[in-house]
Amino acid sequence: AVTAVALVLAAQSATAQGDACSDGEIVVKFAHVTNSDRHPKGIAASLLAERVNAEMDGTMCMEVYPNSTLYNDDQVLEAMLQGDVQLAAPSLSKFETFTKQFRIFDLPFMFKNIDAVDAFQTSEAGEAMKSSMERRGLMGLEFWHNGMKQFSANVPLIEPGDAAGLKFRVQPSDVLVAQMEALDASPQPMAFSEVYGALQTGVVDGQENTWSNIYGQKFFEVQDGTTETNHGVLDYLVVASVDWLDSLDADVRDQFLTILEEVTMERNAAVGEVDAEARAAILEAGGEIVELTAEQREAWVEAMKPVWEQFEGDVGADNIAAAQDINA
Ligand code: LMR
Repeated sequence: AVTAVALVLAAQSATAQGDACSDGEIVVKFAHVTNSDRHPKGIAASLLAERVNAEMDGTMCMEVYPNSTLYNDDQVLEAMLQGDVQLAAPSLSKFETFTKQFRIFDLPFMFKNIDAVDAFQTSEAGEAMKSSMERRGLMGLEFWHNGMKQFSANVPLIEPGDAAGLKFRVQPSDVLVAQMEALDASPQPMAFSEVYGALQTGVVDGQENTWSNIYGQKFFEVQDGTTETNHGVLDYLVVASVDWLDSLDADVRDQFLTILEEVTMERNAAVGEVDAEARAAILEAGGEIVELTAEQREAWVEAMKPVWEQFEGDVGADNIAAAQDINA
């Protein structure tokens, strides 16, 4: 069984966090790209491993590989289909090659806050999205929250025009590419693990991300400041392969999925706290945060919202209407 000491030792001495698996246990490798502390995904992944290793000891054993130590997000889903990794939680922007349904989450200013995102995800339409990739061999298990995105750059960003002509790293999503083009900026899709170096060396000028990612990756250290736009959402889908899920005995699968659901409820409910702590930690570490007036923020809304029309066909006018009803 895992102990706190074993967890700490594993984290320090190797890339994987978790129990040393014994013979006969089903090994579950969970690969992700963020840090483990003070991060919504990192904390949830560690808690999931801790509970699986304690409660399913002898049956199942989970190893967590944070910080892109096993795979980048652009490799992990293919690796999952090959059976090389069993669990991942890429952001919803990273499923483009499998489904276009999640594009609704990337549309700027679609959701006013994480509570609205939660209400949409737990609606019938949101629940149905989890199985949208079943034909492609992937099953969505739970949505995990991170938070709302902010813009940072190597110059102050007050008006949308301040982003014009700058290069921004984006996640590999056509919606995010279109969003940056609407600002006359140049979008540069890039793996998460490469962003800090790209900002530091000036390969890109700016990026968009949540407080926990800006803090965890120390982006604020190599940016002029971060502007609190809350213009979009960054959330995750915990996924497994259909083949792997089918390979589990029903009682084992049920126990695992129940633990996952409980961890999801616990950590999603606490996400606001983790987000606020990361924001405060940036300020404490000397990072600059720019707050916009309502009028200044409205100018960003006007510049970026036309992107909705470009993707209405992919995401469905009914889904957009449902999201807007939730915001109201
Ligand atoms: C990013 O690539 O910016 C994020 O998806 C990373 C993450 O997993 O939060």
